Amino acid sequence: QTEIIKTNNDDQAVEKAAKLLKKGELVAIPTETVYGLAADALNPEAVQKIFKAKGRPQDNPLIVHIGAQKDLEKLISEIVSKRAQKLIDNYWPGPLTLIFKKSSLVPAETSAGLDTVAVRMPSHPLTLALLQKSGLVLAAPSANTSGYPSPTTAEHVYADLKNKIPLILDGGNCEVGVESTVIDLSQKEAVVLRPGGISREELAEFLGEELRLNNSLDNDQAGVISPGMKYRHYAPQKNLYIFETAKKDLLFKRAEEKKIALIISRQTELGQQEEKLKIIRAYDRENPAELARKLFALLRELDNDPEVEEIYIEELAQEGLGETLMNRIYKAAAAKDEAQPGGGDNS
Ligand code: TXA
Ligand code: MG
Repeated sequence: QTEIIKTNNDDQAVEKAAKLLKKGELVAIPTETVYGLAADALNPEAVQKIFKAKGRPQDNPLIVHIGAQKDLEKLISEIVSKRAQKLIDNYWPGPLTLIFKKSSLVPAETSAGLDTVAVRMPSHPLTLALLQKSGLVLAAPSANTSGYPSPTTAEHVYADLKNKIPLILDGGNCEVGVESTVIDLSQKEAVVLRPGGISREELAEFLGEELRLNNSLDNDQAGVISPGMKYRHYAPQKNLYIFETAKKDLLFKRAEEKKIALIISRQTELGQQEEKLKIIRAYDRENPAELARKLFALLRELDNDPEVEEIYIEELAQEGLGETLMNRIYKAAAAKDEAQPGGGDNS
């Protein structure tokens, strides 16, 4: 039985969650990005349960969530660089994850055997209260079944993990809607390992330096730095395709055979038989943050809609959050038989 407690900041709920976590149990927690499936990051048996509940490949390390900057010291075995501190001061709590050399306190289960650890301070008040009051540091991947779109509501978590975990803290809809940006500062040149809720452009400007996106992570090669990036991901069960407006005639033709849902911007003009499709005008072109908030929920909703057989989503310009969104969309749209070797799906 999975209990759901809906609250925004209630001591009893926080206490209950802390108690379970200290016993080595799992609790789903709201964050500003997506819901997380949390365990005590320093308890290897508890962390194992995360992999089991999600069906997550063992080689994919977890992010450790902290409630105070002083918690960082014990997790890492390096001095926080000026550059890292600048990012922390500006973006924590918030959707930015930093990679550090790990201390021996962090079990191999949490870091999937790497000698580094990913850390972030989430900003959702309920989870921040849980971290601060319990004193725990929490390992938490997104609280979905591995491979499926990340959860942005407590209902999404329940749909995937009911009866696998004792408690879901329902803190409402996630504000950002896509995962944190993961950035590696361990080399001379800073690298984004996963584009996320803070755009690479914004971070580059803030740091005043070039900020590369390490695309080699998308290939299943030796030397993968962020193992989570190598699998098909975020995907609905139905086939998802990327739609280019230039090819709209093809789409309308396809709609004669298949029940199609199409996610586009409010500015996109189709100019013909729109009633043949289920059209979702989800965002304004100049505001991809709106799509970020809705993307995973839309994919889940359309996946469950018996009136939809195939899902199409309009290609976005790869600027700002558009880069993050296209990263998720490409992964979700990868044809099932094109899934990368190495276990297929993942978190
Ligand atoms: O917004 C988020 O980051 C959410 C919420 C719950 O905080 N969490 C999340 O976790 O997205 P997860 O496990 O779904 O994704 C973690 C990503 C993966 O791509 C993983 O490979 C990468 O971070 N990662 C974790 N530890 C790493 C490390 N030591 N070095 C490189 N990449 C790491
Ligand atoms: Mg995930």
